[in-house]
Amino acid sequence: MTDLNPQAKQMADESMVRGLEAQARAIWPQEVELIRRYQLPDEPRILDAGCGTGEGSSRLAELFPRARVLGVDIIDAHLELARARYAKLAPRLTFEHQSIFELTAADNIFDFTVCRHVLHSIPHADRVIAELARVTRSRGYLHLIAEDYGMLHFQRGTLDPRDFWHVGPAEFGAKTGTDLFCGRNVFGILSAMQLEAITVDYVVVDTVRVPRETFAAIITAWRDGYAEPIGQYTQINQELARQYFDQMIASIRDPNGYAVWMVPVVSARIS
Ligand SMILES: C[S@@+](CC[C@H](N)C(=O)[O-])C[C@H]1O[C@@H](n2cnc3c(N)ncnc32)[C@H](O)[C@@H]1O
Repeated sequence: MTDLNPQAKQMADESMVRGLEAQARAIWPQEVELIRRYQLPDEPRILDAGCGTGEGSSRLAELFPRARVLGVDIIDAHLELARARYAKLAPRLTFEHQSIFELTAADNIFDFTVCRHVLHSIPHADRVIAELARVTRSRGYLHLIAEDYGMLHFQRGTLDPRDFWHVGPAEFGAKTGTDLFCGRNVFGILSAMQLEAITVDYVVVDTVRVPRETFAAIITAWRDGYAEPIGQYTQINQELARQYFDQMIASIRDPNGYAVWMVPVVSARIS
């Protein structure tokens, strides 16, 4: 049987908590402009599927002050941290232990269903997207941050990060049954489901738009959480993976350096 959560250890790690925090700081300022496009009711019901520590859920609850937001995840420590951090937003904002493969909600409940940074890390992204569509009402929206590890670009140094990104995600994905190039494939999934108004946009996390230290904090968290499994699952050993990440971090911090992570944001309206 396929492991439905092959990154469980990395997802629960301390490095993930700080990585998610840095990612939200980098991504939300551009993402929020995309979210403002959706036509939502005054008191929307919002689902944040795979909410982690609640970075997205809490921002959604603040953006829509009359919304009821439910964040679901399968890591209890993340849910507890989210409840503690955002207690002031309760009971409008709640967090529950639920798998996004099998949500407890009835059909057609949510006006707006968000799934940020999850689909690349699990197998069967199409099954999850179908489940998200099931719980979203007609004319409601799906908003998906589907990562794609072919969309990170770093300058060459002693090592060439192109080699790392070319080999690493393909082998990691093959070993874990996940699609680390999910970003480019989600359009097709939504299109086959005959959803409406499909959009594909990019949040550009680069050294021009995002503070260098925020971007560096993201890659540092990835290094700390993923060098070991990269060593385990790919031909890049753990030490070499750390060296690649260290070089990427150095080039982000170099005031004359340029680096970019293009983050696909894919949306659709339920017909
Ligand atoms: C990279 S984190 C993203 C967290 C959050 N969406 C954010 O943007 O900060 C991915 C999250 O998906 C969760 N996840 C993985 N499989 C899941 C499942 N089957 N059901 C619910 N959550 C899941 C993980 O536990 C983890 O917290």
